[in-house]
Amino acid sequence: MKSPHDITIFEVGPRDGLQNETLELSVEIKAELIDRLSKAGLPFIEAGSFVSAKYIPQMANSEDVLTTIGREKNVFYAALTPNLKGFERAIAAKSDIVAVFTTASEAFAQKNINCSIEESFARFVPVLDRARELGIPVRGYVSCVMGCPYQGNVPVKEVADVSERLLNMGCYEVSLGDTTGVGNPKLTETLIKTIAERIPAEKIAVHFHDTYGQSLANILRAIDLGITTIDSAVGGLGGCPYADGASGNVATEDVVYMLDGMALSTGIDLKQTVETAWWISEKLNKQPASKVAQAMRPGQ
Ligand code: HMG
Ligand code: MG
Repeated sequence: MKSPHDITIFEVGPRDGLQNETLELSVEIKAELIDRLSKAGLPFIEAGSFVSAKYIPQMANSEDVLTTIGREKNVFYAALTPNLKGFERAIAAKSDIVAVFTTASEAFAQKNINCSIEESFARFVPVLDRARELGIPVRGYVSCVMGCPYQGNVPVKEVADVSERLLNMGCYEVSLGDTTGVGNPKLTETLIKTIAERIPAEKIAVHFHDTYGQSLANILRAIDLGITTIDSAVGGLGGCPYADGASGNVATEDVVYMLDGMALSTGIDLKQTVETAWWISEKLNKQPASKVAQAMRPGQ
């Protein structure tokens, strides 16, 4: 599942971004955000999350969001599903893609999904079975690939093991999440070189949070090593409830500006993305986190 461009951007702002914002937004605002992103040319948009509202109240209205959006042709709308219950909800809301998520850190699994890594895979089996029956593509996320706020070091071999297992059970792609943004280009290189010995690069996506400002450098290194799918969030939305001072995902407009400059196509309109970054940030009573949005402020 790739866009027809050099680099595929997988937009996670409406899910990963908004799940970490303290202000809870209405269905209408979230749906408008997604519609603005699809019109700006984002080919994959993670539109919501079907987890427990007790854990993530910001995503409680995902059903309504997914049924309110205007669906653009050639845009895939994805949703996070931790278990079969989440999967059934995602399908009822007409998600085109679902995403299961686990981690290579045992400590993070307990905090995030209230189970062991092994148990998380047991929950995924019926999801993958049902998805196969319905022909729904499943994405797999691995969190804490470059370090964990609870256990510290996360061995690369364990990240590779979990990633390979997700693909073997039927995920079409694995997204490697630097959940707290502690990575750097050297760690990115080690991770990708190790994993690419076992998994083709076209099945690996990278998912950087920009806490330490390393995301663009990491993405550049990843692209040099053959990675062509990048997760990002418009306006650099979000943060991380598990890491003090953590910021959101790398901003979509920062990534698109860099790729435009390198003549790597994404199909995404930079100006519209920046306008959307400002629009959603105003709804959240803040300024976009990204440098590019600041530099290209609409009306300047
Ligand atoms: P649990 O408490 O272990 O599971 O939660 P449970 O099966 O015992 O269920 C407990 C309650 O939740 C029950 O309700 C279930 O019905 C309900 P009760 O009987 O108490 O009223 N429940 C659900 N409700 C709605 N939808 C569902 C669902 N499943 C159970 N799908 C669970 C396990 C995973 C559900 C829980 O721990 C949870 O929802 N956690 C939230 C995790 C999460 O969303 N984290 C953030 C996303 S991951 C991320 O951001 C990282 C990523 O971006 C990559 C990166 O940056 O690294 C992807
Ligand atoms: Mg994330």
